[in-house]
Amino acid sequence: MCNHKNAGILSVGSAVPDKVLSNADLEKMVDTNDEWIRTMTGISERRIASEGEATSDYATKAAKVALDRAGIDPSEIDLIIVATVTSDMQYPATASIVQNALGCKNAAAFDLGAGCSGWVYSLAAANSFIKSGMYNHVLVIGADLLTRVTNWTDRTTCCLFGDGAGAAVVGPVGEGEGLLGFELGSDGSGANALCIPAGGSRQPITHEAIDAHMDKTHMEGREVFKFAVKIQGEATERVLAKVGLTVSDIDMVIPHQANIRIIDSAVQRLGLAQDKFFVNIHKYGNTSAASIPLALNEAVEEGKIKKGDTVVTVGFGAGLTWASGVMKWVY
Ligand code: ACO
Repeated sequence: MCNHKNAGILSVGSAVPDKVLSNADLEKMVDTNDEWIRTMTGISERRIASEGEATSDYATKAAKVALDRAGIDPSEIDLIIVATVTSDMQYPATASIVQNALGCKNAAAFDLGAGCSGWVYSLAAANSFIKSGMYNHVLVIGADLLTRVTNWTDRTTCCLFGDGAGAAVVGPVGEGEGLLGFELGSDGSGANALCIPAGGSRQPITHEAIDAHMDKTHMEGREVFKFAVKIQGEATERVLAKVGLTVSDIDMVIPHQANIRIIDSAVQRLGLAQDKFFVNIHKYGNTSAASIPLALNEAVEEGKIKKGDTVVTVGFGAGLTWASGVMKWVY
């Protein structure tokens, strides 16, 4: 047991498949075109995992980068949380598979399912574990292979999704820095707006379900879009108010990369300069729980975030859920 501490991100890392699926490639698979996809979503290409690979492979790769950068031995990790909606198997938790692959022999491990909000939910959980004194170092991973659950005959959804993983080592930091506050929420009345209908306890897999693509992502695009536009701005404003900051204090927003028009709506609502929103959706599409840590890692690698910056992460997704967090960057 440790004493109460402030927690912060000590390092980040990410991993994506090498294989690229471009909009031109998609044009050969469904009735769509590059211009529609880029204009309506902002996506030019996405990464696709190869046959035989699993979510834990990318989660492990991303975590290794983060561990190396933090200079932390795997044995020092107390807990691994993997935010995912595409676990390697129905059970056990992908986090346990990652724990074994990394050799984090002293770590507890569990998965967290909150759709694309999952990584920020997991960061909030890690913060609480460290603040309470229960743990010192937590690996917070967001990893999804959404293309494994994509209906490639549905042009309204198949152009949106991609595969990848992002990770952070979270540990004790000094007073006034690191994770400052969170705003988490859920509106379960929207559960059916974004879901995989079959394969769970309500509707086990049958041949008929597979023929009807019910083992793949089903999305009410317009409904999710409206929810996202509203909640993204609200969740950002609420988390800032909780910690006594305002929009003008923000140095960088790392939004969930679902649709460039959703991100642009937040730029408008918050009245911030466009370059305060980090965007990499054109390269990866929507990678679900991986999207925010993947973007955060790129922003850090590109030198767009520096020590002392106020960084906001904000996501929304299946549930329907939302999550925002604000932090003072520590390195
Ligand atoms: N190529 C060409 N035309 C298309 C395509 C396509 N890929 N997809 C749809 N269209 C057509 C439709 O058929 C329709 O044509 P019609 O007017 O002749 O009927 C027209 O384009 C408009 O289609 P809509 O589906 O109504 O378009 P919408 O404006 O809703 O945009 C989109 C679709 C981009 C999917 C949007 O709804 C969206 O981004 N929704 C939110 C997605 C999202 O953020 N999801 C979060 C996921 S989070 C998680 O947890 C996974």
